[in-house]
Amino acid sequence: MPVSAFASYDDGLATSDRRRDHFITDLDLDDDRLWIPYGDTAWFQPCRFDVTTGGFTAVLKALPGTVVPKHYHVSTVQGWTLQGSWGYREHDWLAGAGTFIFEPSGESHTLVVPEDADEPAIILFIVSGGLVFTDDEGNFAAYEDGFTLLELAREHYGSKGLDLGRLDALIR
Ligand SMILES: [Fe+2]
Repeated sequence: MPVSAFASYDDGLATSDRRRDHFITDLDLDDDRLWIPYGDTAWFQPCRFDVTTGGFTAVLKALPGTVVPKHYHVSTVQGWTLQGSWGYREHDWLAGAGTFIFEPSGESHTLVVPEDADEPAIILFIVSGGLVFTDDEGNFAAYEDGFTLLELAREHYGSKGLDLGRLDALIR
């Protein structure tokens, strides 16, 4: 079933402001202002907005009981768990600190942090391409990618008076 109502996105930068050089960035997991809300019980800090594949690299923090609704990945996902535990409703494993995961394109899953976890899960995700959120029957619900997260990040940084240039520096 084809989806509709997609619009064009770009990074919002003038051509002369687009950079191709390497960069480094320092996250601060202890600075609450830098955590961009993602739902009511999760936040992310961006490492890279991937305008090449439409993906992103970000650290996700999710409280016990968090559910990131079912979604389908059009490309690959790699993840590394810094803290806590988490899993996918569709699989029987539970990731803990140190767990690395590779997911091939085509994977559909629902991310959950156990209700009885004793600390938030903190996971670095390297995502290539977009996510298609679906209902339980696989029908389209919403779309997310590096561009939509860049927009979300800019809204948050703007509302907190944070340096928007810090986000622009992560666009490649
Ligand atoms: Fe996912």
